[in-house]
Amino acid sequence: MLKALLLVVVLAVAAAAGLGAGYVMWGQVPNWYAADVAKLGQGPDNDLIRYGRDLIVNTPSHIGKSATNPALRFAGNDLACQSCHLNAGLQPFAAPFVSTFATFPMLVDDQVLTLTDRINGCMRRSMNGKDLPPESREMEALIAYMKFVGTGTPEGVRVAGMGLKSIKPPTLPPDARRGQEAYTQLCASCHKEDGQGELRPSPAIGYSIPPLWGDASFNASAGMAKTEYAASYIHDNMPFGINYQAPVLTVQQAWDVAAFIISKPHPVATPATVSPLD
Ligand code: HEC
Ligand code: HEC
Repeated sequence: MLKALLLVVVLAVAAAAGLGAGYVMWGQVPNWYAADVAKLGQGPDNDLIRYGRDLIVNTPSHIGKSATNPALRFAGNDLACQSCHLNAGLQPFAAPFVSTFATFPMLVDDQVLTLTDRINGCMRRSMNGKDLPPESREMEALIAYMKFVGTGTPEGVRVAGMGLKSIKPPTLPPDARRGQEAYTQLCASCHKEDGQGELRPSPAIGYSIPPLWGDASFNASAGMAKTEYAASYIHDNMPFGINYQAPVLTVQQAWDVAAFIISKPHPVATPATVSPLD
């Protein structure tokens, strides 16, 4: 799956290069990462977009394991989409949503992957739950928001900053024991020594700091459970507040700490949570 997606990205970048000098070059206008729902007017279409953003930021209250409406408890944990898709999907190299609408459906391993399928891939694995019904208002809202944040982006092209930035291979094989030392030093202040993060104060649902392992975390089939994905994500986005332009961890530390987190228990992906694409 990783290989196929990377191939698509490479092709997209090659296609983009043909569009005109500077068009998608980093640092050039336009900045694709500045969509702002606050600028939207009234009306049902914009309400749907706003609901989509709220689903990404406050996922657990709407569709989480402890959601207010029991009929909508589709996720099996109380993570938010934003726990990983930082800044409501507008953080470069934190798997942002800017080119998402314009690049789905996508061909992955010779299968057509629709945006609905891709969202439900995260519902099953990262959210350790079950599919959102394709016709639901929640699915429509997520897609409407992704379409909105991609307004004006080139069709079929992944703009710079999409996905995760590929990380250099480690010098030494990733080592969970070394990773634990880095974790204690650089991560435990927020995610805690037991990896369980911090709940929002009640009555709010969900986390101010998300858990990294254990029953409340992403399952063993999730993208974040792959060492390369986790290393890349962590290198460019953690400790929270940094970005890919000023990483804090060395490449080796990122691989080691990823190995440490993944060596800890995660929910087993049951047939219901394993995506047919993984
Ligand atoms: C535990 C982390 C995590 C959580 C939580 C999570 N995702 Fe993801 N998601 C990922 C990773 C990792 C990728 C893959 C990035 C890549 O392929 O480069 C991804 C990819 C995606 C993509 C594909 C984007 C693209 O353009 O390639 C969509 C859409 C998506 N997620 C939607 C969601 C939604 C909606 C939620 C909440 C219901 C969610 N995700 C929750 C980690 C997560
Ligand atoms: C300053 C507090 C802070 C520090 C330090 C920090 N994180 Fe995070 N981390 C967060 C927050 C907050 C989020 C979720 C962002 C959101 O909800 O907007 C997050 C999200 C994550 C995620 C994705 C979500 C999930 O549940 O899997 C991973 C993986 C992660 N952090 C790993 C690390 C690692 C490894 C370190 C140490 C190198 C680290 N973090 C240091 C605050 C922190």
